[in-house]
Amino acid sequence: MGVLTVFVALSLLGATRSEYTFVRRVSLAPRSLEPAVLPAAEFAVPFTAKTPRRKSKKTALAALRGKSRALGGSSTVAVDGSDFDDEYLTNATIGGQHFSLIVDTGSSDTWVAQRGFNCFDLDENPVPEATCAFGTPGFNTAASKTFQPFPNVSFNITYGDGEFLSGPVGFDTVTIGGLSVARQEIGVPTLTAWEGDGINTGLIGLAFPDLTSVYNTTDPTKASAENQIPYNPLFLSAVSQKKVAHPFFSVALDRGTFDQQENDPFDPNLGFLAFGGIAPVPVVNTAVTVPIEGYSATGTPSNGPGSDFFFYTVEVEAYTFPGASVRPVGSPILDTGTTLNFMSTEVTTAYNAKFDPPAVLDEDAGLWVVECNATVPEFGVKIGGKTFTIDARDQILPAGTDDNGNIICISGTQDGGPDVADNIFILGDVFLHNVVATFNPVAAEITLTQRAKY
Ligand SMILES: *[C@@H]1O[C@H](CO)[C@@H](O)[C@H](O)[C@H]1NC(C)=O
Ligand SMILES: *[C@@H]1O[C@H](CO)[C@@H](O)[C@H](O)[C@H]1NC(C)=O
Ligand SMILES: *[C@@H]1O[C@H](CO)[C@@H](O)[C@H](O)[C@H]1NC(C)=O
Ligand SMILES: *[C@@H]1O[C@H](CO)[C@@H](O)[C@H](O)[C@H]1NC(C)=O
Ligand SMILES: *[C@@H]1O[C@H](CO)[C@@H](O)[C@H](O)[C@H]1NC(C)=O
Repeated sequence: MGVLTVFVALSLLGATRSEYTFVRRVSLAPRSLEPAVLPAAEFAVPFTAKTPRRKSKKTALAALRGKSRALGGSSTVAVDGSDFDDEYLTNATIGGQHFSLIVDTGSSDTWVAQRGFNCFDLDENPVPEATCAFGTPGFNTAASKTFQPFPNVSFNITYGDGEFLSGPVGFDTVTIGGLSVARQEIGVPTLTAWEGDGINTGLIGLAFPDLTSVYNTTDPTKASAENQIPYNPLFLSAVSQKKVAHPFFSVALDRGTFDQQENDPFDPNLGFLAFGGIAPVPVVNTAVTVPIEGYSATGTPSNGPGSDFFFYTVEVEAYTFPGASVRPVGSPILDTGTTLNFMSTEVTTAYNAKFDPPAVLDEDAGLWVVECNATVPEFGVKIGGKTFTIDARDQILPAGTDDNGNIICISGTQDGGPDVADNIFILGDVFLHNVVATFNPVAAEITLTQRAKY
């Protein structure tokens, strides 16, 4: 789901709403810990559907949309209507009602559209309910025996791609596979600007409490940093309710085949979301545990107490590709909700030039386009002294067809902006297809394990 607009805890400019100023925690020394000994997961649920999005290019183009808007461009990019941006869904029940939900490590709220919601487009115009393309008519709070409203507060979230939701908040039992969390705080939005896929009805957010989006106001338009009421996201609730013996959740995101991405079949084999330990897929002996980087609210780089955690941000020592090893300034987040890798302009430009034939920047779309049969240069991500490699199959994605019906492909590595410390870069599914990422939000550590080739 990518980068969220979040509120500044301390607004230096006095504005009630602005982009958060992210400051990297200063690492005193290259930090890496002995790989955590990870137990097998207690609960694992399959990712069951990879859903090419016919209607919108939500996750994959989030950053690009923002950019073209900033440049005064249209919010529709040239690849609109293509099939490449996938999402990882899992089945869940909320108050006994069944939904398919997006699994997102790049945000923290779990929400489900409430029955009777009002649908809007991204420009805030009311549109028919069907336009939001949820997979169900929505959550019926009255039909849940366990739903309890949270009076006088509001849910209000805007995702990096411009989708936004607001409405009431409540508590209910959320069950995913064998994991059942009682009284989980959830958003039950009634105003939804959502570009759905006809399958999902909401989202499970797995990042940190400070990134949650509930505010102490009955009027959602009055949401601000001052009235934010942070709460435990789903997995931290599971930990505090002792539903898992170990505070790990783990994702293994399988890549679909090129043909599947292009042709949109149901894919039943897309990996696992696991709780309590490492996801059950074959791995090789490259593993590292690294601390998650926090952010300072005051602008002061902070190493310890006082730094706030929002995303699963990791420090990268180097991006390696033929002829280059680039130590970045800005750190990426690990985000299951974003399809592509968004790297610095410098790395993106240099790496994309190494395809044979080279990828080229389509200025209108703001996208690096590449021949579908190009030879892919190797790409490694060095974290905590270990280099994790990205399979060539992840670096070329079908992205629709041109006027003559030929398939257009894009590079898996796209421009996320200049390499500065306060820019948020993204290691999305292109990277995550190659590792098992096991998150420990209690210790603020991540263990990455290279997957066996598949
Ligand atoms: C997910 O839910 C759908 C609809 O309820 C069902 O058809 C499907 O079998 C479920 N998948 C799994 C893996 O449980
Ligand atoms: C909610 O707000 C109303 C009106 O201000 C007030 O009467 C009520 O007591 C509040 N409820 C709670 C649970 O705070
Ligand atoms: C909301 O704000 C009111 C008044 O400022 C306060 O009394 C109340 O405890 C707050 N509610 C929550 C849930 O924080
Ligand atoms: C969310 O809050 C902001 C102010 O912080 C407001 O501008 C926006 O309209 C709100 N969104 C919704 C959908 O209410
Ligand atoms: C790659 O595809 C292009 C058309 O996009 C074609 O002209 C070219 O011959 C192909 N090259 C190889 C090596 O298959």
